[in-house]
Amino acid sequence: MSAANTGAKRPVGVFDSGVGGLSILREIRRELPGEDLFYVADSSYAPYGEQPEHFIEDRAFTIAGFLQEQGAKAVVVACNTATAAAIAKLRAHFNIPIIGIEPAVKPAVRGSESGVIGVMATPGTLSSVKFADLLERFGEKREIVVQPCSGLVEQVERGELDSDRTRELVEKNLAPLLARGVSTIVLGCTHYTFLAGVIAECAGQGVTITDPGPAIAKELRRRLEEGGVLAGADSGGAQRFWTTGEPDGARRLISTLWGAQVEVSQLPGEYARVRQSQIRPASLTK
Ligand code: DGL
Repeated sequence: MSAANTGAKRPVGVFDSGVGGLSILREIRRELPGEDLFYVADSSYAPYGEQPEHFIEDRAFTIAGFLQEQGAKAVVVACNTATAAAIAKLRAHFNIPIIGIEPAVKPAVRGSESGVIGVMATPGTLSSVKFADLLERFGEKREIVVQPCSGLVEQVERGELDSDRTRELVEKNLAPLLARGVSTIVLGCTHYTFLAGVIAECAGQGVTITDPGPAIAKELRRRLEEGGVLAGADSGGAQRFWTTGEPDGARRLISTLWGAQVEVSQLPGEYARVRQSQIRPASLTK
């Protein structure tokens, strides 16, 4: 590695099953304007939420490995599902800070004295051991209702942030939570942040929506400061994007969600492929 690519000048790597993690990247850019940010959208394998854990773990290791080879000084797993499936093993394997994200149940419990808390997340996140631990820690303090959501990640991946179909799916996924009288909704999937406006409208007044992005960005700042590798506000500040999906469509979608025209590269083949051992006969994946 060249001298120019050491310490603070190295980029921060961020990844998600697709474009959802851009909601976290946006907060990181706000908090850390001088950092170079490298983002991988694993869109050809989204949604992760319905994949087996070993598959998600494999993708997380492959992408974190790619980001480390690009010189990343830290990696943010901007995906609740991948964090639940792989964070402990990633931390044990990589010798750079690995920052994960979990549904913001703790801040929701601390932020209000009463009321039912609803958690919208993927089936993968809600069925994980990590989430069970979270419920055990906070479920006694407050009634927590979970909703394994279906279809919402796909709508965001299609760029349908406010279509009739998206509203219909939001309403369908919200209905069981509203029926239980939730007063706070935790967005436990980074894709859902892009639907926060529709979710808030459908939930109606008096329901608070929590977004974990700012807290993740602050945690990243803390970890970079602690390691003495925080970039000054006036250095760098560039971003690069890779996808395992179709690059032209990804360029259009990422540019829209990022709010500026960006270039998106195809993730090199060896990082985009799933290892043979991870491919299961179709009959087993149903
Ligand atoms: N954005 C992701 C999350 O935070 C993953 C969604 C998915 O691919 O199922 O959970």
